[in-house]
Parts: sequence; C-alpha cells; structure tokens
Amino acid sequence: MSKPKPLVEFVDVNKWFGQNHVLKDVSFSVDEREVVVIIGPSGSGKSTLLRCTNRLEEVQKGEIHLDGIPITDEDVNINHLRQRIGMVFQSFNLFPHLTALENVAAGPTKVKGVDETEAYEHAQELLNRVGLGDQGDSHPNELSGGQQQRVAIARALAMEPQVMLFDEVTSALDPELVGEVLDVMGDLANEGMTMLVVTHEMGFAQEVGDRIVLMSEGEVAEVTESDQFFEQPRTERGERFLSRLL
Ligand SMILES: Nc1ncnc2c1ncn2[C@@H]1O[C@H](COP(=O)(O)OP(=O)(O)OP(=O)(O)O)[C@@H](O)[C@H]1O
Ligand SMILES: [Mg+2]
Repeated sequence: MSKPKPLVEFVDVNKWFGQNHVLKDVSFSVDEREVVVIIGPSGSGKSTLLRCTNRLEEVQKGEIHLDGIPITDEDVNINHLRQRIGMVFQSFNLFPHLTALENVAAGPTKVKGVDETEAYEHAQELLNRVGLGDQGDSHPNELSGGQQQRVAIARALAMEPQVMLFDEVTSALDPELVGEVLDVMGDLANEGMTMLVVTHEMGFAQEVGDRIVLMSEGEVAEVTESDQFFEQPRTERGERFLSRLL
C-alpha cells in the first residue's frame, strides 16, 4: 500500500471573534481515506474549525490546505472549494419546496451544469445508497429527521466531494433515528471517504474513527488513534473528558 497522504492540513490555525481567541494554533491533518473525529466540550471551537474549512468563517492566522492547496488564501474560488468539500450540519437544511430527488440533483444541475438525466440517475443511486431509494418523490416535511439527514448526506455526496465534514449531524434527532444516520456515515467511511466528523456519539468515534482530535478551549489537546484514546488517552485533559462521559 502506498503511504497515505494528508488531504486536509491545518497549519497553526488561529481565529478570533472580536477579543475571543477561539482557535489557537490548531495543527493536525486528515489523510486520504481517513476518518478523524473531533470531540471536546461545548465552546471548544469544533464547529468553528469545520466552518473555517469551507470558508464559512475566515481564519486570521495560519493556513488550511486541501490536497496541498492553501484554501485559506484570499484568491481561492470559494464556490469551487465548496464543491470539493461536502458539509452536513445539525439542522436539516434541505430545500423545503423540492423533493428528495430534486434536492440531491439540484447542486449538480444548477451549480456544476451536469446534464439533467445524468444528474437524476446519479441522485437516485445516491438515495439508494442512503437507504431512501423509494422516497425520491417525498418532500422534506414528509420525511423523518433521520431520513432528512440522510438526504442531506446524499445531497452533499452528489457534488462528488473529496472530503466530507459532519457537524453533530445526529444531535437534533430523536434517539431512535440516530443509528440509521450513523450507519450511513459508517458505510461511507468503509467505502473510503475522507471524513472529518464532530460528534458526541462516542461509539461511532471509537468504531468508525481512525483518530480522535480532542479540542479544549480552542486548542488541540491531543490527537490519538481512536482505539488508544478510548483505552488510555495520552493527556490529562483526555482522561478528564472521558471520565466525565462515564
Ligand atoms: N458567529 C460567532 N460570533 C461570535 N462568537 C462565536 C461565533 N461562533 C462561535 N463563537 C464563539 O466561538 C467559540 C467556539 O464556538 P464553537 O461553536 O466553534 O464551539 P463548539 O466546540 O462547536 O461547541 P458546541 O459543542 O456547543 O457546538 C465559543 O466561545 C463561541 O461562543
Ligand atoms: Mg458546535
């Protein structure tokens, strides 16, 4: 096997909201086909880091690289960048007036200019893949939260991104719907998708995550292989975080 290469690299990333220093010299990388799970207390900067990665927020110091390209540079084409980075959030932000199938096909046809027939065929395949092959004609309000979130994942995949970012995608779901979304994410990981995942689901972090990044007050407290982390974290902050979960 060839040596994995870093696909996403955070290099001394710093961000302030006014006086509030929310990302402090954040440095780590996500290799191609790797699943990195970010955990940490509320307010530690997890969402901000993901938002900086697709330029929903600006980094003030440091760089983020995608496939060797500094995406934090001012002259980067943000629309092209966002095609290469799929993102799914906690809230199900599907287009309410479009069916599931239309939601998935919208990006490729409207943004990428993909031929309609081709885009709809691909959209149907993606819905099949997330277990919603027979729900293509449903509107978001006719779907459960878990189903909507799976459509949102299919919609992000439709752009054929190089990396997928997930920010607490199961946090707003009823407990009985969490598993179906995590299963889809697990399948995606098994298929080799590069993923950066913020989650409170420690079972997922342990089973699907390759490495754990623990954030604390804007800093990376530790980066550890997930098996190792859940057996014995390397840092005191890691131990404290785990002990609070138990
Ligand atoms: N748009 C914003 N304007 C000002 N401050 C913000 C903004 N977004 C986040 N912050 C602040 O940045 C810090 C990090 O917030 P962030 O949302 O990244 O944390 P988080 O780790 O995702 O927390 P949670 O687990 O609650 O989602 C917090 O102090 C927060 O108040
Ligand atoms: Mg958050």
